[in-house]
Amino acid sequence: MTGDKLESSARGKVAVVTGANTGIGLEIVRELNLRNAKVYMLCRDEKRGQEAKTVLVGMGCDASRLLIERCDLSSFESIRNCVRTLMDYEKTIDILVNNAGIMCYPKYEMTIDGHEMHWQSNYLGHFLLTESLLPAMKTSTAARIVNLSSALHMKSDRIDLSQIDEKKQFGLFKPYYRSKLANVMHARALTQRFREDGTNNVTINSCHPGVVNTELSRRFVIARYIARPFMWLFAKTPREGAQTALYLALSKNVYGISGKYFSDSAIASENPLALDDDACQDLYNYSLEKCLLQNDSAIASENPLALDDDACQDLYNYSLEKCLLQK
Ligand SMILES: NC(=O)c1ccc[n+]([C@@H]2O[C@H](COP(=O)([O-])OP(=O)(O)OC[C@H]3O[C@@H](n4cnc5c(N)ncnc54)[C@H](OP(=O)(O)O)[C@@H]3O)[C@@H](O)[C@H]2O)c1
Repeated sequence: MTGDKLESSARGKVAVVTGANTGIGLEIVRELNLRNAKVYMLCRDEKRGQEAKTVLVGMGCDASRLLIERCDLSSFESIRNCVRTLMDYEKTIDILVNNAGIMCYPKYEMTIDGHEMHWQSNYLGHFLLTESLLPAMKTSTAARIVNLSSALHMKSDRIDLSQIDEKKQFGLFKPYYRSKLANVMHARALTQRFREDGTNNVTINSCHPGVVNTELSRRFVIARYIARPFMWLFAKTPREGAQTALYLALSKNVYGISGKYFSDSAIASENPLALDDDACQDLYNYSLEKCLLQNDSAIASENPLALDDDACQDLYNYSLEKCLLQK
């Protein structure tokens, strides 16, 4: 496919891929590993992750550069635990592919954090993961974040954040459309933040992978039993579906490009709703709040050594003495 457009080597790079055990995610992991990156495979089910790793090694991947970490995007606690582990192992992360996703979840269900299942699994969980890994990405010479969206984001109505988790907003397809629009808006909003705070070594773009023959519609009976057997006739293979995300993660052609939506490894037109910068920033601020990331000015935990009052007074007296301020 677009192999000639990619950097031939990702040696020395550290990559993180969500939903890494099947479909497009598995193929993204495979290609990054074959190009010598160290890849953290974030999977919600470790057993499925191990099975995927075995498959990847059978495809020629280097097992020592495939690391499985449990990360269930429908749980903020699981995401935070995963980030803690990643930060124990790595100072720098160069590539983050926010790939995991669900579609046509058959019933209205809230996550443990109180959000509609598509909204958190596809969007809000990735927002928290991205924000939490940003400090490590900012230490990279050139870090890239890739959000897997979908052309179906075009079908989304304007996102009403005040009602996003409510039952009356639910349907078989609409929550998916909205979450995929949010993936595009996230890339635009974070790019705006980068411009404001002078971050010029991290980029974030979103993409449509094509119509790809994967397990994505596994919960939608009509698609699973009637359409899926014929999908191979018109749909891309997962390897083909991985190419636009890989292009955004690796190609020198997109160096410095951020906040854009891609399809078939080229910039494409997004839903005009995603071009509303105020709405993008509202979504960003809402997400900070829901992920409890907004507490810059709140009381936080200090090193327990700082709670030793005697030591604090000793330090104070010592400082008075050294500064010749003793009475
Ligand atoms: N296939 C297409 O035609 C198509 C078109 C447009 C966009 N996309 C996008 O491409 C991305 C990949 O989809 P795919 O087609 O490869 O689908 P897939 O084969 O169903 O793979 C989805 C992956 O996401 C994981 N996942 C789902 N919920 C999760 C959660 N709460 N926490 C962590 N991981 C979770 C799945 O884990 P389990 O295996 O444990 O369920 C699986 O590894 C999605 O974002 C999708 O929206 C796909």
